[in-house]
Amino acid sequence: MRSYLGTTLKAVAVLAATASFAAAEDVEVLHWWTSGGEAAALNVLKQDLEAQGVGWLDMPVAGGSGVQAMTVLRARVTSGNAPTAVQMLGFDVLDWAKEGALANLNDIAAEGGWDAVVPGPLQAFTKYDGTWIASPVNVHSTNWVWANKALLDELGIAQPTNWDEFIAALDTVKASGKVALAHGGQPWQDGTVFEAVLMATGGPEFYKAALIDLDPEALGSDTMKEVFDRMTILRGYYDDNFSGRDWNLASAMVINGDAAFQMMGDWAKGEFLNAGKVPDVDFLCFRFPGTQDQVTFNSDVFAMFKQGDTVSEGQAALAKAIMSPEFQVAFNKVKGSVPARTDVDGSELDACGQKAMAELKAANDSGNLFGSMAHGYAVPAAVKNAIFDVVTAQLNGEYDSETAVSELVSAVEISQ
Ligand code: BGC
Repeated sequence: MRSYLGTTLKAVAVLAATASFAAAEDVEVLHWWTSGGEAAALNVLKQDLEAQGVGWLDMPVAGGSGVQAMTVLRARVTSGNAPTAVQMLGFDVLDWAKEGALANLNDIAAEGGWDAVVPGPLQAFTKYDGTWIASPVNVHSTNWVWANKALLDELGIAQPTNWDEFIAALDTVKASGKVALAHGGQPWQDGTVFEAVLMATGGPEFYKAALIDLDPEALGSDTMKEVFDRMTILRGYYDDNFSGRDWNLASAMVINGDAAFQMMGDWAKGEFLNAGKVPDVDFLCFRFPGTQDQVTFNSDVFAMFKQGDTVSEGQAALAKAIMSPEFQVAFNKVKGSVPARTDVDGSELDACGQKAMAELKAANDSGNLFGSMAHGYAVPAAVKNAIFDVVTAQLNGEYDSETAVSELVSAVEISQ
């Protein structure tokens, strides 16, 4: 009897332990943060959750901008095995919401007062039909240039403020034998450069007409031809091995002083910081010349895939943790982005982060804040990929600028 009781007590103790473990349920997180800087930022999130007793099952899918991650996600959902939580961008979130795949986060959002603190342009992608369907972890912007300061100083190059100055700077670097522009030839990276060049060439109204409203007249215009001409000019400053290179390897070329500039979103800053580099001392961050007053943004959000009728405890913990003001500062300091809440104090961010926050606010106030086409915040994935196809083909010499313009018009039309 005594021993029976002993066994029973032991069993109860085990059950209790299991129950408390199960209450703080695991989350499986599908994401594409695999570069050095990205992984460092991801760790901030992982550790935050683990401190709350939530186990983290890592599902990394390498590939910049989530191109491969979105393919894996589709396969997982199709086979009835959706991950608990998924990193996503803009229109992809809305597409999954339309399919009814995402969990309703309204209770968590109401409790956290998200409506009042998440910027309006972002809520357009984190809410669907009035229902919160994603937790935004940051705001990135894409129209940046990253520069190796020592190399610029050595070559007597001042920070360029317009296209001509930029080209003159690139010429000086090229003549020195260093790589002028570090680039990775992958469609999403080509597209990231393209949207900045387009903004600089045509201005904000042209960006909106061409890449958000998909106006055939803007897409088929002489201005668009000039954008493609400029893409060809920039290609002349890439090194011979640019094709297929990952974006973080291009960042490393600037970090190591092998190249002077990289045009990339501010996740590149995460690589510089991860290498121990300091803004304004070791590297410069500035808007792509000619886009000083505009910001093209994207945001990483986490959407929870439905597991049952309500969100699981692990999913709720993750959604909540992401929106905590302290977490948003801690995470974004490492990631290179800025907080997705308007009410957090950015004074702990470094010089580039402070600049990013101020410029984001100014652009929003002046009507110059636009969703990034290349990173899912301007058009649905089908249209984005159609644009990428033309941009990459033109960059690689398959089309001259004039042909690229007409291909762009028809590709965009067919993809809608
Ligand atoms: C994401 C970033 C990521 C970058 C490179 C962007 O689309 O917003 O978080 O670091 O892609 O993978």
